[in-house]
Amino acid sequence: MFITFEGIEGSGKTTQIPCLVEFLEQAGYTVVTTREPGGTAIGDQIRNILLDFNNTDMQIRTEVLLFQASRAQLVEQVIRPSLAKGFLVISDRYADSTLAYQGYGYQLDLAQLQEIVRFATGGLKPDLTLLLDVDVEEGLRRRFGGGGKNRLDAYDPDFYHRVRQGYHLLVQAEPQRWVVIDAGRSPDQVQRDIRRVVHQRLSQKNEKQ
Ligand code: TYD
Repeated sequence: MFITFEGIEGSGKTTQIPCLVEFLEQAGYTVVTTREPGGTAIGDQIRNILLDFNNTDMQIRTEVLLFQASRAQLVEQVIRPSLAKGFLVISDRYADSTLAYQGYGYQLDLAQLQEIVRFATGGLKPDLTLLLDVDVEEGLRRRFGGGGKNRLDAYDPDFYHRVRQGYHLLVQAEPQRWVVIDAGRSPDQVQRDIRRVVHQRLSQKNEKQ
């Protein structure tokens, strides 16, 4: 089973995922975790290019393609082989980030992006996507405090409002794949919800097998 986490900056993905993994491993699952951009040796090099403050000339289409290059490598090198072995794969961001950030945030053509994403992933979609949903101002306060930590952090609040709204539109388009978690609460409460949702999906899947 392939599970992805999505959400704007400060939604808590990076805190929540390791806690979920610990819980699942204790329950006997073999879990492979990964993140985007990056997650492979080649992908991590691409990540460095994407995040580097010095790359002020980077064009938005270049950015889109670099995200997809990192993703294509990750899908072939890590995600597909792990799923084939029956492992659980959990990714901190995946294709929906491109649609939310480059599509809704930067307002690039969504249909074109969907096509490029399909090419990069070879059509591989998550079985379950959790949206850690947090108020934009709260997320930005949690994450940045003062200023951005890398080149991709230089966006304004309006941008993140569009991204958040975009995520909700993606949820509406595919409600069976998504679960929205209210990430404005305490980390413990959020983790409890995440575990409940994932546990429920895993037991449904095991029943079907
Ligand atoms: P990162 O430091 O990993 O942030 P986070 O902890 O919020 O995931 O940086 C990833 C940044 O890249 C984040 O701002 C979202 C952005 N991004 C896109 O714009 N498009 C994409 O396809 C992906 C995967 C990420």
